Amino acid sequence: MKVLSSVNKMQEAANELREEGKIISFVPTMGGLHEAHLRLVGEARKRADVCVVSIFVNPTQFGPNEDYMKYARDLEGDITKLDRFGVHLVFVPETEEIYPKDFQTFVEVEKLDNHLCGLHRKGHFRGVATIVLKLFNIVKPHIAIFGEKDYQQLKVIQRMVKDLNIDVDIVSSPIVRDESGLALSSRNSYLSTDEKKSATCIFKTLRKMKEEFDMGLNLSKTIKQAGGKLLTEANIFDIDYLEICDPETLESKDLAERGDLLAIAVRLGGTRLIDNIRL
Ligand code: PAF
Repeated sequence: MKVLSSVNKMQEAANELREEGKIISFVPTMGGLHEAHLRLVGEARKRADVCVVSIFVNPTQFGPNEDYMKYARDLEGDITKLDRFGVHLVFVPETEEIYPKDFQTFVEVEKLDNHLCGLHRKGHFRGVATIVLKLFNIVKPHIAIFGEKDYQQLKVIQRMVKDLNIDVDIVSSPIVRDESGLALSSRNSYLSTDEKKSATCIFKTLRKMKEEFDMGLNLSKTIKQAGGKLLTEANIFDIDYLEICDPETLESKDLAERGDLLAIAVRLGGTRLIDNIRL
């Protein structure tokens, strides 16, 4: 497995692979790799000749009071995992090369940003879209894999790819959960034992809300009230959102329909956790 940190070297490697007719798949990450990342890598490996993973904690997608500085970093551990997992190339750029002092170009996906996390993390998706487009231009993949836990991110990337005619196939991969149902996330490592116990109620709440819908309830307000009650009982009081929305536009819906997105973001201590299921 090769590890490259220079943008030029990565572009040269990608050009050579493409000239040889190789199909390149790509998994962008911010490191702190866990089982869910490795699933994305497994998916990427299945679909291409060469699998590239990037590790870059992207400063432009963090707000001023967010966890950029403390974001779980373990480069050595990550590289060992990727090597064992049969990744061909790891791209680990330096922040200064990705964002030189005079950097001033950003990508904004406008309407999708006006919902869910976009309302609570101003500028987050602008940072995500910008870094993903930059990484696409550097790694030059044919296919890129994104997890469905970050559902809004997936939609933003799909929209950007469509709107800007980017020649990359976006593949989504299902949420990976631990045995308690908690969606795997690098941020789970911040949770205390008590917080982890409360966090297991996030998925239970979503499932219960889906059960209410399956039993014939379709007033979003009533389904959300039932969910809110369960969260409070689990000592989760800080809820950024609990929404039933259109799975494509992410607009909130008053009446829930089969296939809608049920999405949640809560804060436990200083940790922000998100999850979602489809009705
Ligand atoms: O999902 C992530 O880890 C990040 O948002 C991504 C896509 C790697 C961009 O920094």
